[in-house]
Formats: sequence, structure tokens, C-alpha cells
Amino acid sequence: MKAIQAHPQQGLDGLTLVDLPDPGDPGPNAIRVRVHATSLNFHDLGVVTGRLPVADGRIPMADGAGVVEAVGSEITEFKPGDHVVSTFFPTWLDGEATLADFATTPGDGIDGYAREVVIAPATSFTRAPAGWSHAAAATLTTAGVTAWRALVVNGGLKVGDSVLVLGTGGVSIFALQIARAMGATVIATSSSDEKLERLRSMGAAHCINYRRDEDWGDRVRALTGGIGVDHVVEVGGPGTLAQSIKAARVSGHISLIGVLTGREGVVPTGMLMARQQRLQGLIVGSRRHQMDLIRGIDAVHGHPVIDRSFPLAAIAKAFRLQATGGHFGKIVLEF
Ligand SMILES: NC(=O)c1ccc[n+]([C@@H]2O[C@H](COP(=O)([O-])OP(=O)(O)OC[C@H]3O[C@@H](n4cnc5c(N)ncnc54)[C@H](OP(=O)(O)O)[C@@H]3O)[C@@H](O)[C@H]2O)c1
Repeated sequence: MKAIQAHPQQGLDGLTLVDLPDPGDPGPNAIRVRVHATSLNFHDLGVVTGRLPVADGRIPMADGAGVVEAVGSEITEFKPGDHVVSTFFPTWLDGEATLADFATTPGDGIDGYAREVVIAPATSFTRAPAGWSHAAAATLTTAGVTAWRALVVNGGLKVGDSVLVLGTGGVSIFALQIARAMGATVIATSSSDEKLERLRSMGAAHCINYRRDEDWGDRVRALTGGIGVDHVVEVGGPGTLAQSIKAARVSGHISLIGVLTGREGVVPTGMLMARQQRLQGLIVGSRRHQMDLIRGIDAVHGHPVIDRSFPLAAIAKAFRLQATGGHFGKIVLEF
């Protein structure tokens, strides 16, 4: 079977297409899945460029979607022919988070989905949304579940709430779509006026160019009558958090998700305390969160925004597009 192996010391040039032996039949509690698509995340970019240390030769990519080819003797949840999508934490099935690292995450601590065939415990997958392509399903594992957890699980999003999303990457576009589908008002930012137009066409009520308007936190507050938004989907990290605290209302909720501006920085603790906000760090979600998201998608017949699709062998080209921030929503690989 074809697979991609990463050699991060060589950066994106180290991504190598290889032929590996077929993994054979699944054991009693496992399933064999023919993978047809994966999607790119900022985390995967960190793995393949060496920003996040992994074993040399690691098969990258946390997200995978495809078709069940065979099931073990103990498996009742899936049957051959089922369309499935992988989970980010194969061992976190339900309940509170108990993990604080990527040791069990495909494409990081273990081999991922840049390969044609995978044998894994059945709990490493859920069914895919009804009628979705493999490429669409592959966008859910990381970006879709993160946005769902931020707004619905941790945020308790309600009709009439207001949500701020930052930039137009995979997580933020999912957050916009979930918020709109659930009757929330969205304020969105981008560095590109062209992308702001697209955000408007997707239902964002207000759009701000964060490059031109560096004090966008005050602007969000002004747009909400001086109050601030109920939820911020904070994908920027240390370089954007102070503005996000300004932008959220007193007692508002900020999901601390991203590291787009770096991993360490100063938090304006006085302002956070005075505004009595809830700052919640999170990493993706459980298998249960993914199943709930997919139930919601089936109900509203939602669809992800896929910017561009590449063949598996063009993985380095796909990551170069992601690294430049030229995309809107998700980039996928299909094979
Ligand atoms: N904790 C978790 O569970 C989790 C899960 C998924 C992702 N993440 C993190 O969330 C972040 C986004 O991930 P992703 O996969 O959605 O990334 P992505 O698709 O690569 O997002 C890139 C986009 O982010 C926007 N951006 C970059 N710098 C920005 C800034 N200073 N302020 C506002 N927007 C900015 C840009 O949008 P414009 O071009 O419109 O300006 C850029 O196109 C990453 O840091 C990633 O590691 C965390």
C-alpha cells in the first residue's frame, strides 16, 4: 500500500511516498479501513516541519476517512462497506478529558492516515455523516470536533448568542457554520478583504480586517452595543488573547484553542479577572463529541468548506498552501 512518511529534519521536502506491506486482516476488536481522504491541520503542519517532535519516518495526518473493508469477530458497530471517519484521541471515548498530550494521536504519537489501509481498534472511528464524500468527512476529526466542543460542549451555545471567530482557517470556518446553524450571531475577522466578503456571504453579521484594525477587541465591543460577545473561538493564542478578552462580554466564554501567534505569552490576568470571564483551554474532543457533531450535521444537512483538494503524492504542495495562509476553510488530500 502507498503511504507518506515524514522526515521532519528535511521539512516539507522530507515527505516521502513509500510502498509498505499490506497490514492484512484485523484482530477480533479491530477494523480494516481503506482510507480515501485526509485533511490538513495546523497541528499536522507542525509535525511535518519539525515544530512538534515526532519519530523519524512517522506516517503523518490526524484525520482520515474511508470505507470499512473487514471487521474483527467481536465487532458489532461496523460492517464492511460502512463509511467512517477517524477520531483524534482513539482512547478518549466519553466523559471529561484525561489526556494532556499527543501520545495517542494519529499522525503524532502513533502513525496517522496518510496511507491507503489502516487496521485500528473500532473505537478509533465513528460513522461518517450520511451522504458526505470521504473528503468532506475527513475535515471533521480535528477542526470540526474542536469547533463543536468550543461552542456547544464547553460554551453551551444558545439561539441568540454572539460568537467571535478569528481568521478563516479550518476551525474558525467550522465555528462560523455551527454558530449560524444554531441561531447565533457571528462576528468574524480576517487579514484579507476578499475573505471578509466570503465570510459575509456565509452569514457573518460583522466583519473586521484584523491587520487594518489592530484594536479589533474594542471594535467588537462597539458592534455589540458596548457589551462584548458571549463566546470567542480563540485560535490566535498569545498575540490575540488580550484583544479577545476585550471583545468578550463580562462573564463571557473564551475557548483557548490555537497557537497561530506562538505558544507562550503574557495573559492580561487583571482584565480577565475584572471581566469575570471563563477561559477554557481545550484539545479537540472525545469520540462522543464527534458522534454528537455528526448527529447535528445529519439533522441540518450541513457541509464543510473545502478550499482545495490534492492527491496524496502532492502532500508537500498542499502544506505549502496551508503555510502561506492562502486557504479559506479546509485543504484535503484524496486518494
Ligand atoms: N486545541 C485544539 O484542539 C486545536 C484544534 C485544531 C486547531 N488548533 C489550533 O487552532 C489554530 C487554527 O488551526 P487551523 O487548523 O484552523 O489553522 P489554519 O486552517 O491553518 O488557519 C490559518 C488561518 O488562520 C488565520 N490567522 C493566522 N494568524 C492569525 C492571527 N494573528 N489572527 C487571526 N487569524 C489568524 C488566517 O486567516 P486569514 O487568512 O483570514 O487572516 C489563516 O489563513 C492553530 O493554532 C491550531 O494549532 C487547536
